[in-house]
Amino acid sequence: MHFDDLREYIAKVDEFGEVERINGTDPHLELGTIYTINAQGPNPMLFLFDEIKGYQKGYRIATNLLGSRIRGRLARNIPLDLEGEDLAEFSHKRIYEKRGVPPEYVDTSPVFDNIMEGDDVDLARFPTPFWHELDGGIYLGSGSACITRDPDEGWVNMGSYRSQLFDRNHVGLHTAHGHHGQVIRDKWFEKGLDCPIVISLGQEPSLLVFSGNVEPWGVSEIDIAGYIRGAPVKVIKGPRTGLPIPASSEITLEAFIMHPDHEPMHLEGAFGESSGYYSHIGGHAAPTIRVDAVYYRNDPIITAQPPVRNGARDDASGEGRDGGEVGLTKTLTEAGFHDIRGVGHAGPFTVISVHQMYAGHAKRVADWFMSGAGGRPPRMLALVDDDIDPHDAREVFWAISTRIDPAESVHIYRDRWTSPTQPRPSPEKKEVPLEHGLTMGCVLIDALKPFAWKDQFPPTNDVSPELRQKIIEKWGEYLALEPERGRGR
Ligand SMILES: Cc1cc2nc3c(=O)[nH]c(=O)nc-3n(C[C@H](O)[C@H](O)[C@H](O)COP(=O)(O)O)c2cc1C
Repeated sequence: MHFDDLREYIAKVDEFGEVERINGTDPHLELGTIYTINAQGPNPMLFLFDEIKGYQKGYRIATNLLGSRIRGRLARNIPLDLEGEDLAEFSHKRIYEKRGVPPEYVDTSPVFDNIMEGDDVDLARFPTPFWHELDGGIYLGSGSACITRDPDEGWVNMGSYRSQLFDRNHVGLHTAHGHHGQVIRDKWFEKGLDCPIVISLGQEPSLLVFSGNVEPWGVSEIDIAGYIRGAPVKVIKGPRTGLPIPASSEITLEAFIMHPDHEPMHLEGAFGESSGYYSHIGGHAAPTIRVDAVYYRNDPIITAQPPVRNGARDDASGEGRDGGEVGLTKTLTEAGFHDIRGVGHAGPFTVISVHQMYAGHAKRVADWFMSGAGGRPPRMLALVDDDIDPHDAREVFWAISTRIDPAESVHIYRDRWTSPTQPRPSPEKKEVPLEHGLTMGCVLIDALKPFAWKDQFPPTNDVSPELRQKIIEKWGEYLALEPERGRGR
């Protein structure tokens, strides 16, 4: 199933009773706090805010687009009835058969129903909340799809980057260092040029999912969205930039990220982050975006997803973060590694489970991970043997607490690529120009049985799979069964 626009998606979500309409909120902290409390609750709804104080009725903000199992699946085109092994098989097939489906160019879209250009551009008419108490300003974009083109290679990138509203035709754009959007911007800057950009502020949900998804350099997230939704993304060629504008867009800004020699940088931030802290306290200098044209539907809907501490996870689909753990295993295999049982997460750890074939085998896998070749290195990585399910925190923590010798098994990797939103780097370190970022250390916990004497490691005190199965067959009616427990021992 796929959606041609956001309204169709909201109507479908409404059929499942997951839409709540809220009218009359104050955009200064009230709307944002309602959104936050909902997102932190047990069953976050899709809240659709209308009649926002100071703004025209019908100019709406849709929040929490993805934060439930049903919404996560509708947006990612995952059948609602798949569970267990069937779901795992579906995710596996989807990841392993992944390929780009290029967008389909069309001639028009309702997004051109209203047009503001040049001096007529007035972003102040769109509802723009002050979301968190210590934010440095009001934010128009927090669930957007931002589209740029590599000036040398010609491919089109899509990412989601927040936009603070500065004045009627200027916004900010926070592109963390190392994100493709930052690299593409700086390639234009190196040529002395402004970087053309399209910012869609509301769009059908697969575009939000894949704006936030990491794809390799050179791979267009628009093509991957087309693959996942099962139909090409419809786009229109932007009149000023030539960039593809999603036909499903509710509001599109056609704009340029201004070279700092052409327009001065502007303080951006602070902003509350999902890490649970504010980043960029006091603001940091970032290039300014000049908006040359705005296209918008009648009664447009902005999609907003500002960060919330311990908020609803956008991967509630049951598939994992876009099948990301399956994807990581595939990436490791493609990098030439073998005998990987899987990649999972337990508490603060990224966990790799390996069937060790020789001394140093698993550490090579960890070193590759920590190089940042497949994305930002995890802050804490744990290596475990293949008797440990990397998704099962109870098993992972048991391995960590029993198989490590802290004097030998803890490895520090210094000076790694990290997110600029990390709270821990010292104030001195944060004095570097944040547009190009920080580095930080990472830790590897080697919770493997040492290869040289793994066969002499004390046997595990647990029922063997064979005996377990035999007993369950005979006495199962008395046992509260945990299907996963004991697998792989
Ligand atoms: C709702 C949402 C908001 C996001 N906001 C930002 C942001 O403000 N700045 C940023 O650098 N990344 C942000 N991200 C993460 C990036 O969009 C994401 O890492 C993406 O893969 C980057 O794409 P790129 O490497 O193609 O540039 C956000 C993601 C989501 C889903």
